Amino acid sequence: MGFVKVAEIQEIPVGTMKMVKLGEKEILIVNIGGKFYAIGNKCTHMGGDLSRGRLEGNMVTCPRHGAKFDVTTGKSIAGPKIGFLRVKTGDEPAYEVKVEGNDILLKID
Ligand code: FES
Repeated sequence: MGFVKVAEIQEIPVGTMKMVKLGEKEILIVNIGGKFYAIGNKCTHMGGDLSRGRLEGNMVTCPRHGAKFDVTTGKSIAGPKIGFLRVKTGDEPAYEVKVEGNDILLKID
């Protein structure tokens, strides 16, 4: 499918994130130091909305049970915390991002 425009750069200032919808997919776009990254927005544990989570550096924490993901790669850093236990959860898909002028484009297969 190639690259699709999903947002404009002024919508996502440095250190913030935004969820965009592409068909059925929810994708989290993050601006870290002026560079944009995109991963799946639905937590791989139980579908928590990562765009409502906390962003610290390149790590987003799910608002539901605290799973942590690296937004630059989609990799799971820490699983959800259930009671005293941390269990494992899968990685998020990561998407290629490109900026053209003011437009943020995502590569979708
Ligand atoms: S839904 Fe995200 S940690 Fe449980």
